[in-house]
Amino acid sequence: MPYPSHVRIVEVGPRDGLQNEKTLVPVDVKVTLIQALAEAGLKTVEAGSFVSPKWVPQMADTAAVLARLHRKPGVSYPVLVPNQTGLEAALRNNVQEIAIFAAASDTFSHRNINCSIEESLSRLAAVAASALAHGLKVRGYASCVLGCPFEGAIETAAVAHVAGALYEMGCYEISLGDTIGVGTPLKAHAMISAVAERVPIPALAIHYHDTWGQALANILASLQLGISVVDSSVAGLGGCPYAPGATGNVATEDVVYLLNGMNIETGVDLDQVASAGRFISQHLGRAPASKVAVALQSTCLPTR
Ligand code: HMG
Ligand code: MG
Repeated sequence: MPYPSHVRIVEVGPRDGLQNEKTLVPVDVKVTLIQALAEAGLKTVEAGSFVSPKWVPQMADTAAVLARLHRKPGVSYPVLVPNQTGLEAALRNNVQEIAIFAAASDTFSHRNINCSIEESLSRLAAVAASALAHGLKVRGYASCVLGCPFEGAIETAAVAHVAGALYEMGCYEISLGDTIGVGTPLKAHAMISAVAERVPIPALAIHYHDTWGQALANILASLQLGISVVDSSVAGLGGCPYAPGATGNVATEDVVYLLNGMNIETGVDLDQVASAGRFISQHLGRAPASKVAVALQSTCLPTR
């Protein structure tokens, strides 16, 4: 199959990236980051989550972030929602798109959202139905698609089951999360092939954390199957608070550089996204976890 001519990048840094930060990031910094990412050309920028503030304190200010955000026309700012309480908060805050999330591992599901896979799917079906009735777009996540921090290897059939259920409850797109970044290309290929039996490829996205440095290779393998939506996090921020040892998503800068080099259009300006990455990295007091961001700052710039 030929590579897609265009890839939509879903920027998850302000949510997946920041949710793992122990020190609270001020609302203004989050707003500046989200706006810079939209200015860089990203059409989907996850803005936060309406989850329990006891579980993820960093996301407790999502309503304040949304209130101060200048929403750019044509850009979607989804928020994560785990239950009806979260959906009600989303509706109060004029959210147009939510993301619901389930896992292909029962142990991870309990650790992350305090219920089994099946309980989560029946709860989320009601949330999705209500969100759709209110005219919201609903995106779905399946976590642990290439491995679980507690259970190890995960059967592709379990991933297909969860992804299929999310699709059937009305999610327009299912993002396949390698939560702990353990996957390798042939495993990613087999997993997507199994999921494609339940969900059409155009409705699939990939969400690869880069803990083991395999994300770009896995993205390439996924593009070869026709996947054309890639989640990434500016400066490679992040991890999941309930996935021990997991580091950030693949860096947006690295994905843009890869796709530019393959003449695959993204609409994202590499310099602008790298600038947004330097902004948040400076605030967090660390260098960006993006090879491309570091290379752009070095004296011997590659051609790009
Ligand atoms: P629970 O304790 O079973 O829920 O947690 P509960 O219904 O018993 O409620 C407990 C308390 O939380 C109550 O407050 C509720 O009101 C409150 P209290 O009476 O104790 O004061 N509460 C809420 N508050 C605000 N917003 C809400 C909400 N719901 C309940 N929506 C629950 C269940 C799902 C709430 C909890 O486990 C939770 O919030 N988990 C979220 C964990 C999370 O955000 N993880 C990270 C995102 S997932 C991820 O990163 C993976 C992904 O990137 C893909 C990948 O990489 O694989 C998407
Ligand atoms: Mg994630």
